[in-house]
Amino acid sequence: MATQRRIDRARFVIEVAQAIVAEIGADRVGIRISPAHNIQDVWEKDDAETRTSYGALIAGLAQLGLAYLRVLQADPAGDLIQDLRRALGGTFIVNSGFSKMTTRDEAITAVDESIADLIAVGRPAIANPDLVTRWEQGAEENEVDHASVYGPDEREYTDYPFLQG
Ligand SMILES: Cc1cc2nc3c(=O)[nH]c(=O)nc-3n(C[C@H](O)[C@H](O)[C@H](O)COP(=O)(O)O)c2cc1C
Repeated sequence: MATQRRIDRARFVIEVAQAIVAEIGADRVGIRISPAHNIQDVWEKDDAETRTSYGALIAGLAQLGLAYLRVLQADPAGDLIQDLRRALGGTFIVNSGFSKMTTRDEAITAVDESIADLIAVGRPAIANPDLVTRWEQGAEENEVDHASVYGPDEREYTDYPFLQG
């Protein structure tokens, strides 16, 4: 019964994804999930239940051939996340969350160790308009100004400096 409820709960996301795919094509649709990760106190702590919930979701989405699965998880190399990755197929993107800022080394390790195909970057990308160049060169990064990250205006989103020279 409880398992059936969790499978039913996945239906909303699956049907929304189906509708979007029908409009714009599966190659332009991805999904972001955060299993067993504390997001503003929404935190799945029961491993078996988490597996059932996300297993049902991914099984429903797998038939759609989505472009990517993006996961927020402090330990994306763990069994649950890697099993979900295999179940969905396609490009797999990770981000380890707010507790530690994404670093170049973390990104390189994730790809080199086949933990993910790509890494999603938040704050360093906001603070460095040329982050790709900086990571290619191993150059220093601008520090993010946390006070301006969520607004209130265009400041910092438009005036972080590029590398000189
Ligand atoms: C300004 C800002 C807005 C964000 N908005 C979203 C969002 O809408 N949906 C989401 O899943 N994550 C969102 N995130 C979280 C990021 O995807 C990412 O998990 C987080 O920034 C940690 O990665 P980082 O260390 O590279 O910044 C946001 C982060 C920032 C800084």
